[in-house]
Amino acid sequence: MNRTTAVPQFAPLTADDDETVGQWLRLLDDSVGDVPGNAPACHTDMTGSLRFAPPATELDDWVVRRDGQVVGALRLAFPDGAPVARVDQLLVRPALRRQGIGRELFRHAVESAAERGRSVLTTTLVEGLAAGPARDTGPAAFGAAMGAVRAPVPAGLHQWLDLGRHDPLAGGVPAVPEGYSLVSWDTITPDEFAVRVSVLEQSLGGGPADAAAQEVATSYARQFEKMRVGRGRRAYHTGVIHTASGVLAGYTSVSKTTSNPEYALQGMTVVHHEHRGHRLGLLLKLANLARVRVHEPAVRLVETANAEDNLPMIAVNATMGYVPRDRWVSWTRPVGPTV
Ligand code: ACO
Repeated sequence: MNRTTAVPQFAPLTADDDETVGQWLRLLDDSVGDVPGNAPACHTDMTGSLRFAPPATELDDWVVRRDGQVVGALRLAFPDGAPVARVDQLLVRPALRRQGIGRELFRHAVESAAERGRSVLTTTLVEGLAAGPARDTGPAAFGAAMGAVRAPVPAGLHQWLDLGRHDPLAGGVPAVPEGYSLVSWDTITPDEFAVRVSVLEQSLGGGPADAAAQEVATSYARQFEKMRVGRGRRAYHTGVIHTASGVLAGYTSVSKTTSNPEYALQGMTVVHHEHRGHRLGLLLKLANLARVRVHEPAVRLVETANAEDNLPMIAVNATMGYVPRDRWVSWTRPVGPTV
């Protein structure tokens, strides 16, 4: 261990501070090896994230400097009306780890959470799979040293589809079952679907649809796409319409950052519970992937994540050739005295 006595200096990270943002982006670039195989940070996406937060969430970004240089970063997310403060980024320059900077960042996170009256800190840590590539166990050791524990919730299974190795479209897109038809849209959700998309996404296609709480202009779908556009992302959607009722029975979404042309993210896929059992999930994903390949011919690697207990979706992904690579494990700690 190589402790130093230099006191880290905290400073807010804001989008209009080009010098600090530039140093933060270099810190992200220098940390690309933390989870080998992940997409490198897209600078447009990350800079955009400083201006455009996820729906109903406030972000609080900080850097820590030593000798004038950014050596660490902290992003806290405060979801509206929740008792939780989420640590979305707690990062130390690789060459300067095990010198107490992470501990300082964590102390800052606890203090900020307490100031805002939050009672719980949460974060997500990457963990290796028995059959997957090795993953750094340092972050979990750090989390435990800070007093955090694994949360009693299902982990996320992080899966990758390598189109260079397996083409799920080799057999074409399956036929659309009788009584349904497909629709597609790009980044901006058409007005006619904005409320339905919001309800499907927020209920995950399960519970009663609270459409009354949504307005087209301020819907969850609109808020989400505002963030997406602000971060320079493009998206491709395919939906399925139930012909008899005319309702959108489900949809799927793939998005892309501005850089990293080979990488895409398979986001939400949801089919309303009344329309399950027709293999619509697989159909939506394959039809949408076919569109992505037309519009984004360089895409080769598609990542996705699902709750580990969402066996139907994981089975759909396996059929398409997705391979589990690691797990995203939730950790939690009461906001209280720092360790
Ligand atoms: N192996 C074992 N224990 C560790 C490790 C490790 N690699 N890293 C930290 N610890 C534990 C030790 O108990 C350490 O105390 P010690 O050095 O006196 O033994 C204690 O955590 C504090 O360590 P710091 O030096 O303050 O931590 P560091 O500055 O190295 O930052 C961090 C740790 C943030 C996890 C760093 O490795 C990193 O940036 N990793 C990539 C980003 C990441 O995974 N972040 C998740 C953070 S976890 C969370 O947010 C709760």
